[in-house]
Amino acid sequence: MSNIESVLNEKRVFNPSEKFVKQANVSGMAGYQALCKAAEQDYAGFWANLARETLHWKKPFTKTLDESNAPFFKWFEDGVLNVSYNCLDVHLATQAEKTAIIFEADDGKVTKINYRDLHTRVCQFANGLKSRGIKNGDRVVIYMPMSIEVVVAMQACARIGAIHSVVFGGFSSKSLHERIVDAQASAVITADAQMRGGKVMPLKSVVDEALSTGGCEKVHSVIVYRRAASETAWNAQNNIWWHDLVAGQSSVCEPEWVSSEHPLFILYTSGSTGKPKGVQHSSGGYLLGTMLTMQWVFDYKPTDVFWCTADVGWVTGHSYVTYGPLAMGATQVVFEGIPTYPDAGRFWKMIQNHKVTTFYTAPTAIRSLIKLGGDLPKQYDLSSLRLLGSVGEPINPEAWMWYYNTVGQARCPIVDTWWQTETGHHMIAPLPGAMPLKPGSCTLPLPGIIASIVNEAGNEVHDQHGGFLVIKRPFPAQIRTIWGDPERYKRAYFPEEMHGYYLAGDSSHRDEDGYFWIMGRIDDVLKVSGHRLGTMEIESALSANPLVAEAAVVGKPHDIKGEAIVAFVVLKGTRPDDAAKAKEIAEILRTWVSKSIGPIAKPDEIRFGDNLPKTRSGKIMRRLLRAIANGEDITQDISTLENPAILEQLKNAVR
Ligand code: WTA
Repeated sequence: MSNIESVLNEKRVFNPSEKFVKQANVSGMAGYQALCKAAEQDYAGFWANLARETLHWKKPFTKTLDESNAPFFKWFEDGVLNVSYNCLDVHLATQAEKTAIIFEADDGKVTKINYRDLHTRVCQFANGLKSRGIKNGDRVVIYMPMSIEVVVAMQACARIGAIHSVVFGGFSSKSLHERIVDAQASAVITADAQMRGGKVMPLKSVVDEALSTGGCEKVHSVIVYRRAASETAWNAQNNIWWHDLVAGQSSVCEPEWVSSEHPLFILYTSGSTGKPKGVQHSSGGYLLGTMLTMQWVFDYKPTDVFWCTADVGWVTGHSYVTYGPLAMGATQVVFEGIPTYPDAGRFWKMIQNHKVTTFYTAPTAIRSLIKLGGDLPKQYDLSSLRLLGSVGEPINPEAWMWYYNTVGQARCPIVDTWWQTETGHHMIAPLPGAMPLKPGSCTLPLPGIIASIVNEAGNEVHDQHGGFLVIKRPFPAQIRTIWGDPERYKRAYFPEEMHGYYLAGDSSHRDEDGYFWIMGRIDDVLKVSGHRLGTMEIESALSANPLVAEAAVVGKPHDIKGEAIVAFVVLKGTRPDDAAKAKEIAEILRTWVSKSIGPIAKPDEIRFGDNLPKTRSGKIMRRLLRAIANGEDITQDISTLENPAILEQLKNAVR
């Protein structure tokens, strides 16, 4: 660990304005510290009180936290509730007419839906699901574009106790297949196609391809939302149009009342080794976390127009599109398209048109918008904005400053939120009316989140040197297990040497004010445009190509995407020695990976070698590959390297 040293030396500090502090849900550092203190003094009591105040319980819980079978923690287990009831029904008496979703399509068409109508549509669709025999505990895979319908689909699953697993619409049929099989899904909800940047991209045909591969026999229904009126092959046996399914369905659907521990969803995410992990979340604990962070971190006010730009295919879209904002009764923007279509002013135009107050996006989007039109925000009226947020990867101070000055006009605090698919909600993030901000730091842990930094032995480190980021105490929203693989859950997140702490997989250090600075992953997970990809997955995809003998993948810093993917490939045949040939094979492999995983996983660069740098025991020395990919001189210890000559070859490889 001694080589994890911080290189950032950012000294700027931005205090929240007096005006912001005054109106904040948690006001001033004293407000934050009081909450932290309450959690410290009575940890279970702290969470229990919040759970009682925040959620609607059909039957109140009597037990708060059960740690008897750690790390399989249980929260509020004997409490009974329904997540969709907590997101929709609770608003009917008080604000049925309030706009729940402002949907803007790729082509700019705007559709608004209020809480009453959203509730009706969820109930009708839930009844439709039931009419297909889908019930409590069944798994339903959702492969849809950003739309009101995808929110309806997720909420309807929650309403009947079915466990949804949303697969990002950019994933390939192979990735989709893998998830359908692992979850043993009974149904798939999809659309004929999605519209992105003016292009029609088929979805249903990808589902068909996935289902034609073995292992999906349990899927008895494929429900298709008609989005693009595009030609779609039809299997009358198990395909059904969304509009046919809901036609004539009752708008009353009694929620399925479930235990707080009932799995709400499974979301697949990359780990360092093996196939994607099905992160399983609970109902009560998860929803509580998303609602509290809406209040604490997003300083949510009923007058807000909230906009999280994330796709529901990622956890951010689960927590801050489908669940958190609805549970709070917010008005939110849902956007189908991409930030650069028709031009790089799209986000700013939408903020202006919809009078967005709270805007939450990813550093990769910010960087690309700086590059494509750094001055564009000035052409729009962004005066409605009061808070900005960032998620998915570290935000570099330059991008932070631009976001702060040009988008937020030096008026809006930025909440840089560190969290993960596994944590379900923000963990280390500013409470914007309390904490002074430092560009590039996610600041301090939220109340009740006991974060720390440890060395390999699990002992706390307190100096400027980095270490492993851990969470020392269980918290309500955390991952419950890896779907179908509890052993892997234990191994991946609670390794023995960590004394029962949750190991996040990130390295971090703390500065003199206790602020956390995330330094990157400790495993082989890449963050490409904020999307989490395992190097192992890309390697397996490459190796599955008949031309390839072996492959290793590493990341290298990229201006916009955060990380670029560099693949080192050993072919079964001879190594291409002229640039044209290398380019041709590289293109074949890039297309191959795109088909196997999705376009986001396409290597940016491929280098061919006769071999890979390996230790005598045959382990690939990735740190050397990383140095080569980054064009660095190799100053590291190579005494265990079996074949030192390979380094020169890879360094000079044509590409
Ligand atoms: C990284 C996304 C620095 C981190 C919500 C984490 C961040 C991984 C930040 C989880 C941030 C996320 N600053 N790094 N504000 N937010 N990360 O599961 O490496 O897609 O472990 O969840 O993203 O990615 P995931």
